[in-house]
Amino acid sequence: MINDKKVLFSGMQATGNLTLGNYLGALKNWISLSDEFECFYCVVDEHSITVRQDPATLRKRARLLMEIYIAAGLDPEKNTIYYQSHVPQHAELMWILNCFTYMGELNRMTQFKDKSAKHADNINAGLFTYPVLMAADILLYQTDLVPVGIDQKQHLELARTIAERMNNIYGPVFTVPEGYYPKIGAKIMSLQDPAHKMSKSDENPNGSIYLMDDADTVARKCRRAVTDSEGVILYRDEQPGIKNLLDIYCACNGKTPEMAVAEFEGKGYGVLKDAVAESVNAILSPLQARVKELDQDKDYMDKIILDNADKASYYASKTLRKVQKKIGYPERPRRK
Ligand code: TYM
Repeated sequence: MINDKKVLFSGMQATGNLTLGNYLGALKNWISLSDEFECFYCVVDEHSITVRQDPATLRKRARLLMEIYIAAGLDPEKNTIYYQSHVPQHAELMWILNCFTYMGELNRMTQFKDKSAKHADNINAGLFTYPVLMAADILLYQTDLVPVGIDQKQHLELARTIAERMNNIYGPVFTVPEGYYPKIGAKIMSLQDPAHKMSKSDENPNGSIYLMDDADTVARKCRRAVTDSEGVILYRDEQPGIKNLLDIYCACNGKTPEMAVAEFEGKGYGVLKDAVAESVNAILSPLQARVKELDQDKDYMDKIILDNADKASYYASKTLRKVQKKIGYPERPRRK
């Protein structure tokens, strides 16, 4: 608990262009939960370097991601929005947690398997221990709730396992976090291949709607979305393309799939696709305008970055000191 509120933590990688999947699966829920919780929203730039990055591009994307958090509606005066690399306690706690995580547990992570297949020339130790850094992110703030998309569930379960393991050995050290997955939008699929999730790293740009895509691009991508030859708009697994479009539509508008199916009864796929594009653009246009403003306000952004890193460090060092003490690191004597 911080300030009598439960703690919420989540983060996104500053890798690639953010997609509508990131927004609907995570960011949108961060906003709806932000009043109720004491929130830490992290730009996880340390996770990003598990895959080779061009330094200038990484720096630019990390900044853009922070602007997107704020532009989407997270108030940086109320919520702690910061860069992971500005708070060294994340990496320090990760070392400790590494010593309480088993190789077998990390070997089972499907994201590691996927990413190492994709980057066979760079299967580095960071890619393998990536989920331990994620556990450190979460546990460092004694987090109660972690709103993420379904693809992060396995990582979150590992964070819980590590927390429980350390609590069993040393007595209460960490709060054991719960995951929060949205009912609609927890897994937005590619518009070109509805069997796979919409992803920043998809090589086919038509599969993903990027948060910075302009309105015409969004409309074009929606129109090109892969559907089927059934010719009816129903919400069911047999029609994965249509189901995905309905998911996007409902997640954007707060409607239920039943409401959407009733709305589109007897209508063609083109009508649905245009309605999806319109709903997406209603979210993206104001977001993009606000990003533009923030991008020009360097003094404001710098102040947010500095103040929030200090705030995060304050809470992070509290937990880190507690853990260091519990595991038996020598105390640092005070200077007389
Ligand atoms: P990342 O950067 O891949 O994704 C950020 C968030 O977006 C969600 N997401 C999706 N949701 C629905 N449909 C999709 N197609 C889709 N694609 C992505 C993800 O589930 C995630 O919530 N390891 C994390 C970042 C991280 C983190 C953390 C998250 C690092 N430390 C601590 C929570 C807590 C990641 O790579 O997310």
